Amino acid sequence: MAEKILVVDDDIDTLRLVGLMLQRQGYQIVAASNGQQALQMAHAEKPDLILLDVMMPDMDGYEVTRRLRADTQTNTIPIIMFTAKTQVDDKVTGFEAGADDYLTKPTQPRELFAHVKAVLARSMKGRLPAVASSSLGSDRGRAIGIIAAKGGLGISTLTLNLGISLSNRTQKEVVVAEYRPGHGSIGLDLGYNRPEGLLRLLQKKPKDLTSADIETELVTHSSSRVRLLLSSFQPADARYMLAGESFDAITNHLTHIASVAALDLGPGISPISDRVLGLCDQVIVAVEAAPGTLLRTRALLDELANRGFGEERLLIVLYNRHRLEMQLTLTQVQEQLRASIALVFTPAPEVMYQAARNGTPLVALYPDNLTSQQFGRMAELIMKDIPKKA
Ligand SMILES: Nc1ncnc2c1ncn2[C@@H]1O[C@H](COP(=O)(O)OP(=O)(O)OP(=O)(O)O)[C@@H](O)[C@H]1O
Ligand SMILES: [Mg+2]
Repeated sequence: MAEKILVVDDDIDTLRLVGLMLQRQGYQIVAASNGQQALQMAHAEKPDLILLDVMMPDMDGYEVTRRLRADTQTNTIPIIMFTAKTQVDDKVTGFEAGADDYLTKPTQPRELFAHVKAVLARSMKGRLPAVASSSLGSDRGRAIGIIAAKGGLGISTLTLNLGISLSNRTQKEVVVAEYRPGHGSIGLDLGYNRPEGLLRLLQKKPKDLTSADIETELVTHSSSRVRLLLSSFQPADARYMLAGESFDAITNHLTHIASVAALDLGPGISPISDRVLGLCDQVIVAVEAAPGTLLRTRALLDELANRGFGEERLLIVLYNRHRLEMQLTLTQVQEQLRASIALVFTPAPEVMYQAARNGTPLVALYPDNLTSQQFGRMAELIMKDIPKKA
C-alpha cells in the first residue's frame, strides 16, 4: 500500500502542485489548507508523513507541529516543514517545535522526493536500515534501474555484464538483482537450477525483511565477485509483480548493502518498475534500431521525464543484437528518438551463445571481446560519481 502523505498549505496552487508531484511518485495524498484542518486530518487519516507549510494565517506550522507532538495519537508522525523562509532561526524554531526535516521553497521536485523518501525510510524504525537519499549526503549506495520499452531486447544480459564490469573496475560491492518474478533468466544462464532468492524474499512480509534476510538470498557465481539476487522462472510466480512494498523494501536494503545495485526492471512500466523507479538514482534505457521500438521508447522516455529522470539521471544505449545493415543508422535512431545515445553496442550473437553454453557471463568468459569492452565503457560512464561506500 502506498504511503499516505498529508500536505498542508494555505496556498491552493502549491497544495495542488506538490500533491500532484508526490502522487506521480506513487504516494497517496490528503490535503489541508489551514492548521486546524491539518490537526483534524492528522487524527482522521493517520498519515505516514506530514508536509507542513510554516506561514499560514490563524495557526502557523510551528504551532501545528507543537500540537501534533503534544498528542499521543500524532506524536510519532514525521513532519517536514515546508516554507519560503530561509533564515537559520526559523529552521531552529521548526526543529524545536518537533519537525524532523526542513525544506525551503521553491523546492526542486528531486529535492522534495529525496527528503520525503529519506524521512519516510527513517521513520520505519527498525523495519528498514536508515536509508537517506544520496542527495542528503548519506552513504547510501546507488540504485540503477535498467529498463527497455519492450521485452527480449537484452536487458538481463546487459544488467549482468554491466554489474560485473562495474565490480571489476571499482572493486566495490555490486549487486545485480532481477526484479522479474516468474520471468527470471540470469540464474538459468549461469546454471542455477532453482534461482529462487527473490521469490523467498517476496514470500515474507515486507515490513519484516531485514538486510540479513537479503544477504542470505544473494548468491555469488564463480565468474565474478558480484552478488546476485535471482528470480524464478515459474510462470505463476509473476503474481508477485504486485508485491510493490516488498520491492521497495528490498531496494532500500540493497542500497544499504552495496555501492551499486543494478536492477533488471524488465520491459515497460510494470507494477514493479512503477514503484521501484521512485527509488532509483539513475536509469539506463536500452533501445534497438527499429522504428516501432523507437516510438515506444520515446513514449517511455517521456514517462521517465515525468518521474524526474532528466538527462543527468538517464543513460540511453543502443543495444544492437542483429546485424547492422538491417537496421537504422545511429543518426536516424537519435533523430527518431529525439535524444542522444550514450553508447552503441555491436551485435554479438555468437559470443553470447558461447557465454550461455558455458554458463558464464560474456565479460568473464571473453574479457577482451569487443562487446565486453563496450560493457566496460558503459561501466566507466556510470562510475564517474559512484558514492564512496566500500
Ligand atoms: N549483444 C547481443 N548480441 C546478440 N544477442 C544478444 C546480445 N545480448 C543478448 N542477446 C540475446 O538476446 C536474447 C534476449 O536477451 P535477454 O534475456 O538479456 O533479454 P531481456 O530484455 O532481458 O528479455 P526478457 O524481456 O525476456 O526479460 C538472449 O537470447 C540473449 O542471448
Ligand atoms: Mg530479462
